[in-house]
Amino acid sequence: METVLAFETSCDDTAVAIYHAEQGLLTHHLHSQIALHQPYGGVVPELASRDHSAHIVPLLDHALAQTNRQLSDIDAIAYTKGPGLIGALLVGAAFARSLAFAQSIPSIGVHHLEAHMLAPMLEPEPPQYPFLVLLVSGGHTQLLSVKQACHYELLGETLDDAVGEAFDKTAKVMGLPYPGGPQIARLAEKGTPGRYVLPRPMTDRPGLDFSFSGLKTFALRTYESSAQDEQAKADLALAFETAAIKTLAIKCERALNQTGHKTLVVAGGVAANKHLRQELSTLSEKLGVSIFYPRQEFCTDNAAMVAYAGFKRLSQGERDDLTIDVRPRWSIQEVTL
Ligand code: KG4
Ligand code: ZN
Repeated sequence: METVLAFETSCDDTAVAIYHAEQGLLTHHLHSQIALHQPYGGVVPELASRDHSAHIVPLLDHALAQTNRQLSDIDAIAYTKGPGLIGALLVGAAFARSLAFAQSIPSIGVHHLEAHMLAPMLEPEPPQYPFLVLLVSGGHTQLLSVKQACHYELLGETLDDAVGEAFDKTAKVMGLPYPGGPQIARLAEKGTPGRYVLPRPMTDRPGLDFSFSGLKTFALRTYESSAQDEQAKADLALAFETAAIKTLAIKCERALNQTGHKTLVVAGGVAANKHLRQELSTLSEKLGVSIFYPRQEFCTDNAAMVAYAGFKRLSQGERDDLTIDVRPRWSIQEVTL
């Protein structure tokens, strides 16, 4: 199982990567659909599927050409099997499974969140097991304890909106383009601290679950009763970002104390947020914990992380059967060994 080709098509990025057992990541390429979905203020599932179909073959050709390889040099294929948008997942799964069948090589369907969690393993100094994971993306907000490879214990998760989703929806209300997370973060830099103060949901209750839909609604009401000018937007962006980030940090501290883990892995699109990184860096000094992040481009969706997770699963002898199967909803507990 030397060379693994991987595809990611769970949402609005079409991505291809090639991973080598000894040489590590050989290449990765991505086509973002942000511009396609921007006029609609969010991802339009049918447009996403069609765009994946249009880009998957050119991306594959590019990845092979760049690494000076042919399909016959590929030993196995990994792809995102779920969770995600059903049509988008089906494009990647059908293509990957068919290609593997045609080449008579094995394939493996990967859990998107496992791939996100393992993304820091692609760095030169990867984290050592055991560790706590804070997974913060547009679709998920979870805290997991990872005692060993492929062993995930869900400690807490959002009961409603994911934190990235709350960023995106709050940005939309303020008329900012999709995806809103980076927009809010940029605007927040010009914000006046303390002008607005938003609640930090569920931090006064015990437990490790999250809830971000109330915070989003609070931000909406605050915006409606504000001057709605540039400064009010910046001040509200800062207040929202602060409330969301402090909430994540408080729950991380609680989870680290509860589990006794000395390593924290932060993954998913929101891990790119600078304010979150500052807050967690303060926490790491306070608790004597080391923090690991994927490199910036592997925080958001990519195929490099799918290639790595697929390589691990294939090395353990896992293989798909011949059915083309996707899991739009798929708990991480189901892939725990
Ligand atoms: O992991 P990801 O690329 O896709 C999912 O699997 O969901 O995460 C995308 C999410 C979006 O909600 C986006 O707004 C958010 O990550 N995001 C950020 C930042 N960069 C991306 N949120 C806050 N601050 C950022 N700098
Ligand atoms: Zn993702």
